[in-house]
Amino acid sequence: MGLTQGQSSQSTSKDTAAVTHNACSKNTFELYPYHLLLVAFVASIYGLYHELYGVYREYASRHSKHHHNMYFASSQPSSSFTAIEEPPTPESNCTKSVFLPYVHKFKTENIPLVKVTIHAGDDNVDIDMPVDTGSTGLLIGAPLLPGIDPNAGTRGWQYLSSSNIVYVGRYLDLNLTFHGANGATAETRVPVLVVDKSWMCPWYDPSKHGFECPSGPDGQEPVERDVGGITYMGVGFGRNKNAEGQRTATSWGNAFLNIHAINGEPVGSKDIKAGYVVSTKGIQLGLTKKHTSDFAFMNLDRGVTHGRDARDWAMPRMQFRVNGRKSVPGYALLDTGIPQMYIRAEDDMPIPEVIIKNPKAGTPTVHRVKNGTSIAVDFGTVIGGRLGGVKASYSFVVGKESLMAPSYVVPGRQEPPPYVNTGRNFLKGYSIAFDALDGRLGFQPVPSYQSNL
Ligand SMILES: *[C@@H]1O[C@H](CO)[C@@H](O)[C@H](O)[C@H]1NC(C)=O
Ligand SMILES: *[C@@H]1O[C@H](CO)[C@@H](O)[C@H](O)[C@H]1NC(C)=O
Ligand SMILES: *[C@@H]1O[C@H](CO)[C@@H](O)[C@H](O)[C@H]1NC(C)=O
Repeated sequence: MGLTQGQSSQSTSKDTAAVTHNACSKNTFELYPYHLLLVAFVASIYGLYHELYGVYREYASRHSKHHHNMYFASSQPSSSFTAIEEPPTPESNCTKSVFLPYVHKFKTENIPLVKVTIHAGDDNVDIDMPVDTGSTGLLIGAPLLPGIDPNAGTRGWQYLSSSNIVYVGRYLDLNLTFHGANGATAETRVPVLVVDKSWMCPWYDPSKHGFECPSGPDGQEPVERDVGGITYMGVGFGRNKNAEGQRTATSWGNAFLNIHAINGEPVGSKDIKAGYVVSTKGIQLGLTKKHTSDFAFMNLDRGVTHGRDARDWAMPRMQFRVNGRKSVPGYALLDTGIPQMYIRAEDDMPIPEVIIKNPKAGTPTVHRVKNGTSIAVDFGTVIGGRLGGVKASYSFVVGKESLMAPSYVVPGRQEPPPYVNTGRNFLKGYSIAFDALDGRLGFQPVPSYQSNL
C-alpha cells in the first residue's frame, strides 16, 4: 500500500535520533579496512545521487497526476546505484526476541493482526492491530483513544493511495505493548497519527490538498468516513521519500524497530538486534542467530533517510520475467497489506492486459493482467546493472491456482524502473527477515511449500 504523509511544520528531537554503534554486530570495516576506500568513494557518489533524486522528486511530484496504489513506487529513482557487497556480518550477540503470533490463521483475504495495548493518557486500549509491511507508520481513530486530550499533538495528514483515503489528525508519541506467546511482551514508543477526520477522496492530490479533501472535478462532495474503527500499523521499510513533513514513514516511525523493553525489562541496542521475521505464523521481533540461521540474506541499498537513521534501507531489488521475457532490474515490495499483486514494466515490455468491470466501487472498469500470463520473480542484489546473487525466486500463472499466486494481478503504467508488489501470498512460500542493523533481507523457504513442489 502507498502512504503519503504531511504535518504542520514542527519536529521533535526523536526525528533526528541517530542509531549508535552497538554490540549486536561487529563493525565490518574494522575487519576489512580496504572497504573504507570503497565506502568513501560510494559516499561521494551517493551525495550526488541524493541531490539528483531530490530534483527528480520535485519533478515527479509536480508532474504526476496519478496517485494510485503505486504512488510511492512511481517516484522511485531509476538509479543504477547498487548495494556494496560487504563481507558477511559476524554472528550477533543479541539474544532478546519476542514472538507475536497472529490473532487469526493466515489467509489470503485478510491482513494479519497482532495483539497490542496502546497506552493513551489514563487508558490502556487493547487493539487487534493490522500488520502492513507495505507502508510505515501508525493510524488510530481518535474515538478509540478517549484518554487523549482532543487538542494534544501536532496536526498532520496521511494519504493511502491504494484505497484513496485521506486521514487528518494529530501526531503524538505513544507507548505500545505487543503481546507475544506465553505472556511475553515487547514495548515500543512511536509517533501515531490519531485520526480526527477521514475521507474517501479519489481526486486527492497529496502535493496540493494537505489537510482537506476538496470537491471533485465534477463537483462531487467528499465522502466522510467513520474514524471510530481506524486501526492501521505500517511496519514496512523503503517506503519513505525523504519528503519534508514526512514524519512516520521512516525507521523511527516503525513500531517494530523501536522496542525499548521486553517482558518489562529495558532493552537497548546491545540486547536486541533491530529487525524482524515475518511469516504466516506471526512476527519474531528482534533478530537472533537462532531465528535467522536458515535464511539466505541479500544486501539492501541505503534508504533515502539513511544519513539520519542508519536503520533506513531501500526496497529490495528484483527482476521479473513475463511469459519468459526478462525485465531490467527493479524494486519489490513484499506487502502483507494486500492479497493482489501490482506489476509495472519499463516502456518497451508489454504485459498482456484485459479490462474488466470493476468488482468494487469506483471507476466502472479496471485493468488486470490477463489470465494465463506467466510471471516469475527473482530477488537479489544488483551488480553492474544486473541482478546477481539471487536469494529467492518464485513463479506462477495468472488465474491458475497455486500457493504463492496473488489473488489477481494489476498492471501499472509502463514506466521505469520495473516494480512488483507481491502481495501477502509471498509469505506462503518464504518467510522474510528484515535486518535493519546490517541492511539485509533474508528469505527462508516455507518447508510445507517446498515439499509440495
Ligand atoms: C559478544 O560477546 C563477547 C563476550 O562478551 C565479546 O567478546 C564479543 O566481542 C561480542 N561480539 C560482538 C559481535 O559484539
Ligand atoms: C513510555 O515509555 C517510556 C520509556 O519506557 C517511559 O519513560 C514513559 O514514562 C512511558 N510513558 C507513558 C505515558 O507510559
Ligand atoms: C481468471 O481466472 C480466474 C480463475 O479461473 C477467474 O476467477 C477470473 O475471473 C479470471 N479473470 C479474468 C480477468 O479473466
